[in-house]
Amino acid sequence: MLFQLLYFIYSLYPIYILINIIRYLGYKISPYSHCFSKKISKKAIIMGGVFFDSKSSIDDYSYISGDNFGFSKSKILNTHIGKYCSIGTNLITLPSGHNYRMISNYPFKLIYPKNKDNLTSKPITINNDVWIGSNVIILGGVVISDGAVIGAGSVVTKNVPPYTIVAGNPAKIIKTRFQKNIVEQIKKEQWWNHKISQKLANRLNNI
Ligand SMILES: CC(C)(COP(=O)(O)OP(=O)(O)OC[C@H]1O[C@@H](n2cnc3c(N)ncnc32)[C@H](O)[C@@H]1OP(=O)(O)O)[C@@H](O)C(=O)NCCC(=O)NCCS
Repeated sequence: MLFQLLYFIYSLYPIYILINIIRYLGYKISPYSHCFSKKISKKAIIMGGVFFDSKSSIDDYSYISGDNFGFSKSKILNTHIGKYCSIGTNLITLPSGHNYRMISNYPFKLIYPKNKDNLTSKPITINNDVWIGSNVIILGGVVISDGAVIGAGSVVTKNVPPYTIVAGNPAKIIKTRFQKNIVEQIKKEQWWNHKISQKLANRLNNI
């Protein structure tokens, strides 16, 4: 009986994919992803295997890597992603946690719905032109500033300053991308807020 039920649910999967194809018309979102947010830019790209909750948002030209059939596993929860971010596969954002200051860690609300919620939640912010390597975890409340790089496999527990490269668990600064005066100049210009012509794109990739 259980096997038949599971088989029945599994047989509905193509219908789910078909519904996604229709839902995502006009967007660059893979039907093999699961997106529940209304704040997804039509210029952003979300590939297969990405779960994107209703509290998250993604701005122009940022992309979240995945694969064609949804085998990779990214989970983006309560996270704002700015413009021109390059996000590797298997990013997990963890805005929530259990309030360990109470006697019990257990969320008794699960058994007694009238109980107070003992979960804590802090939104995560990823600003503009951030590159996140594969298999990264970002904890609640963290702000990743413009131009930062997060090394593969990092666990980011604290804010990341602009144009710094962090890596490891916990992620620590391993280097900076540019000298301070150049960072100040880029921060002032905010190229991501301008229309990017072919000429400017060439400059941004070549200098
Ligand atoms: C973060 C990163 C960009 C740094 O590259 P780099 O500038 O060539 O770094 P370096 O090789 O000079 O490393 C500097 C130091 O940081 C360490 N380091 C680099 N990346 C690390 C990582 N992901 N985790 C832990 N430590 C790391 C190095 O071991 C080295 O340590 P040492 O000074 O003690 O020898 C790169 O290592 C990385 O993680 N890239 C992501 C790749 C990826 O995920 N690609 C798929 C998605 S596009």
